Amino acid sequence: MRRTLPQVAEEVLKILKKDKTRFYSVRELSTYFHVSAYGIHQAADELKNWGYEIEEKKRKGYRLKSLPDILLPQEIKENLQTKILGKEIHAYKALKSTNELAYRLAQDDGPEGTLVISDHQTRGRGRMGRGWFSPPKVGLWLSLILRPRIPPSRAPGLSICAGLALASSVEQMTRLDARIKWPNDCVVNGKKAAGILLELSAELDKIDFVILGVGVNVNQDRKIFPKSLVKKATSLKIELGTEVDRLRLLKLFLERFEKIYLEFRENGLEGLRPNIRKFSSILGKEIKVKWGKKIFKGEAKDIDENGSLIITTGGRDRTISAGEISLL
Ligand code: BTN
Repeated sequence: MRRTLPQVAEEVLKILKKDKTRFYSVRELSTYFHVSAYGIHQAADELKNWGYEIEEKKRKGYRLKSLPDILLPQEIKENLQTKILGKEIHAYKALKSTNELAYRLAQDDGPEGTLVISDHQTRGRGRMGRGWFSPPKVGLWLSLILRPRIPPSRAPGLSICAGLALASSVEQMTRLDARIKWPNDCVVNGKKAAGILLELSAELDKIDFVILGVGVNVNQDRKIFPKSLVKKATSLKIELGTEVDRLRLLKLFLERFEKIYLEFRENGLEGLRPNIRKFSSILGKEIKVKWGKKIFKGEAKDIDENGSLIITTGGRDRTISAGEISLL
């Protein structure tokens, strides 16, 4: 897909959006933009190609009936209150994996904050070499290029920051009880609604870039999940009973995550810990952590300044930097 709308089409779109109930005549539009009638027809065709539903009447002109139900760069950028995230957007109808493309873009010096988003992933990547179920038009499948000047050991904190931004955005928008399940998941009513995948390119003491991949199950119905996921996974629509506006959620997440990310880049997790604790689904609970062949059981006590989990087991504290959690 082309990455940006031609200028005239973008301007025409802005006007059509102002009042979706009225028709704007070709003459009116061409006088306004100083382009020929042909230029206006071309712009309208371009918008139709992008999936905008445009009604055309002979003497009346054009009217915008509806926006496409895919996520487009110009819709994401409109009124987006960020300074870094989403300044450059690569949006697709289908891609193998947004993380994979973002990684390649970052290797080619793609700037910090670049957003790669796709309506569908044919080979979405999950953690631990698993896949990620990413059907068309019902989720947010996105990756961000980040270039924080922090030691690689602090990078896992970024997952927690993204989890916090996600859980709080979902809570604000839907009033669902969304929580961070350390270290990489966002759960609603105990089921996984979103996952985070961090991929790093780094030297021993310096991060070159981080690809932060975020997958949110937004509008799936229960029946479209594969059998293997039905028990563990959910979507916001399933939990809420109604559809959720993906575009609004995406913008809210980007705005919130940028604030959290900037704080993290400056001061680490310290100042964010009260909120992380508030949104945690496991602190204070008896849990089991699986890391490779090792299994630890104990009470989840806290998240430390590196984003590691502290559990109390057999009367002593143990710090765990990665693993899979289940509640006991
Ligand atoms: C997990 O296993 O919990 C992490 C899942 C991360 C999925 C997202 S979807 C967008 C981005 N691109 C990918 O291929 N994976 C991540």
